[in-house]
Amino acid sequence: VDFQITVGARGDRVTSIYAQVRDAILDGRLRAGEQLPPSRELAGRLLVSRNTVALAYERLTAEGFLVAKVGAGTFVSGDRPGTRTRTAPEGTGIRPRAIWADAQLFGLPHPTQPKFNFSVGIPDPRLFPWETWRRLVSQVLRPATFRPNGYDDPAGNAELRAAIARYIGVSRSVRAAAEDVLITRGAQQALDLIGRVLIEPGDVVAVEEPGYPPARALFHSLGARVTGVPVDSEGIAVQSIPRTARLVYTTPSHQFPLGTAMSMARRTALLDWAQRHDAVIIEDDYDSEFRFADRPLEPLQSLDRTGRVLYVGSFAKTLSPMLRMGFLVAPGSLRDALHAARQYTDWHNELVGQVALARFIDDGLLARHVRKATREYARRHAIISRILAQDFADWFDVIPSSAGLHLCAPLRPHATIDMAALAAQTTDAGIAVDQLTTFGGGPGFVFGYGGINDTDIPAGLARLAGIIQGFQFWRS
Ligand SMILES: Cc1ncc(COP(=O)(O)O)c(C=O)c1O
Repeated sequence: VDFQITVGARGDRVTSIYAQVRDAILDGRLRAGEQLPPSRELAGRLLVSRNTVALAYERLTAEGFLVAKVGAGTFVSGDRPGTRTRTAPEGTGIRPRAIWADAQLFGLPHPTQPKFNFSVGIPDPRLFPWETWRRLVSQVLRPATFRPNGYDDPAGNAELRAAIARYIGVSRSVRAAAEDVLITRGAQQALDLIGRVLIEPGDVVAVEEPGYPPARALFHSLGARVTGVPVDSEGIAVQSIPRTARLVYTTPSHQFPLGTAMSMARRTALLDWAQRHDAVIIEDDYDSEFRFADRPLEPLQSLDRTGRVLYVGSFAKTLSPMLRMGFLVAPGSLRDALHAARQYTDWHNELVGQVALARFIDDGLLARHVRKATREYARRHAIISRILAQDFADWFDVIPSSAGLHLCAPLRPHATIDMAALAAQTTDAGIAVDQLTTFGGGPGFVFGYGGINDTDIPAGLARLAGIIQGFQFWRS
């Protein structure tokens, strides 16, 4: 390895080299088996005599940090004394802006894989088309695919923008040409770009409550005054949106986390409201591709006649969050600002994945994948719904839903379960399940079924029911 060592003009240079190599081994920068530069070469670089380096190496070898292999060189020893962690300095004098002081992180990976994983928001990695993706990536990964300088349009790769425009035109009746599509790193970045170009500090942004915490947190971080608006069985309560709201963030196809679809009457009311109040609507259509029963209602974007709906999509559910691939369809009046905002932030998405996804869509493979995954998720949705209705009816209601990757079960009004205590026990029992309160709702659970297969669902729910029964018994 080309290892950074500095030696002063004066002082004990042998000890200095010795200490720097030893520290690098102790804190893990140099790992067992790595080869050190030959003493002659290092001496040349450091402008010291070869003997100085040789003496330092000898000492490190004697103490067991290095091993010399005749004819091969000097290596970091495999069985060296213990390691310590080297961290960045605390920086006690440096503080983030006040808005970041209470920032929190969402959806971090579980330290251990839970036996029964009902976490929301994850598609099944076993359904991901690994073989096909590998083939497409290796097809794409050639110089001819890319522009000579390696950069592309901040709005995204042209092939992918065209493929998405066609796909959502057919599957969701979204009205968009390729130029209207901006490729983003997931829905989250689409929300960020919208916020950057539309939110003035202090602007009111209305979000659904319960709702999607990362969206709320993002708008708050951009200086918005974020206001929660209740959601009923038809969708966001339009009459409760503050008149001053500049932006309304909503999930009409499959409300997050309640799982309901916004009624047509409510869609019309929301669009009317936005027009009267000169507000902008963000339609987050994050997982509506998976529909099990009824025909999807038209998106707000295609019902809108005044160009005030920004349509956000993601491949986090239809394919995988690991791709960090999403998109935004915005009115032409925002296009230049959005493209500039994208370039100032991080220029554009990584290109190999964009072109691979374009081909995946154009070859009809996405549509096929969604059909297959929908059959699987429909099965899981049905199993959970049935078991909750049969075995949990004393404690939980199930909100009817027919799409997506999760369903919501609020605690029944008369049920007296201490949800916080229950949560602790479910975690101990190897069950990961999200609480409705996490998303700003009342007591209850949100069951995701992307991370658990159909054969494990009954056992997981039986274990959960067992805990609740023991709990009830213990209370009485
Ligand atoms: C409401 C909502 N929007 C968007 C997303 C996906 O976001 P991203 O594409 O940034 O991963 C999720 C994922 O859980 C979600 O629940």
